[in-house]
Amino acid sequence: MSKKIDVNKLLLLPTEKYEIFHKLSNNRVLNLNQDTDQLKSKYSSKNIIYKSYFRFENIKLKKPNVQKNNLIKAIINRKSNLDKPSKEKLTLSKISYLLYYSVGLIKEFKRPYPSAGGLYPIEIYLISQKTEFDKKIRLFHYYVKDHSLEKLWQIPKKDLKSCFIQSKIIDSQLIILLTAVFKRSSKKYGNRSYRYIHLEAGHLSQNILLISTSLKLSACPIGGFYEDKINRLLDLDGINESVIYSIVIK
Ligand SMILES: Cc1cc2nc3c(=O)[nH]c(=O)nc-3n(C[C@H](O)[C@H](O)[C@H](O)COP(=O)(O)O)c2cc1C
Repeated sequence: MSKKIDVNKLLLLPTEKYEIFHKLSNNRVLNLNQDTDQLKSKYSSKNIIYKSYFRFENIKLKKPNVQKNNLIKAIINRKSNLDKPSKEKLTLSKISYLLYYSVGLIKEFKRPYPSAGGLYPIEIYLISQKTEFDKKIRLFHYYVKDHSLEKLWQIPKKDLKSCFIQSKIIDSQLIILLTAVFKRSSKKYGNRSYRYIHLEAGHLSQNILLISTSLKLSACPIGGFYEDKINRLLDLDGINESVIYSIVIK
């Protein structure tokens, strides 16, 4: 007897090279299940060997001694720390400020971060917890065009817990999830788009981190998550659109 073929499953098999790489580098496959704190002490920034050209002339630079503006203050004060709760509560007006100036449509077609070819393949989802505007654990999508939050469905706590390696992530006010709609960029740049999308995610995440710091919100970028589980919560297929990064606001 011939086996029934599930067409939907077939349609979701990776075919482009970047799609295959994306699948191969998912956390489940990499097995990065070790506690990040343990990894941190094993591979510490204290042990980095700084590259230097000792044989060449060296021009010593004086440390800048100028009045620090707000941007420089935010750069100096930014710190990833999952143990430090925010000094301020996350209100709707703070979320509006944070989203508008880090990823919003600040002018017609123009956003506050660079994007290869101006194609903007990244979408923003939020999972709010214990916030003034929703007491439940709920998923929102940021509708950039209208600067509004689309109120999606509730998320069971145990499902959210299973998405992250570090359990302390769950005890946070907001989880910001960056997803990529790969085709928006790959139709122009092919496999190279995979690099551009992640560079872009870095640009906009730095905006989120610096603006959070200026709002006295404690934010931490998170790469230790299980793509498949988050995609399932967001109802994404993981091929056409997938979560690629996250930022937690404690
Ligand atoms: C791509 C990326 C992924 C990260 N993932 C995690 C993570 O899963 N958990 C965590 O506690 N910190 C994570 N971090 C934060 C780093 O540990 C932190 O940036 C680093 O220790 C330097 O400290 P600083 O950000 O305070 O300067 C991540 C940072 C980056 C850039």
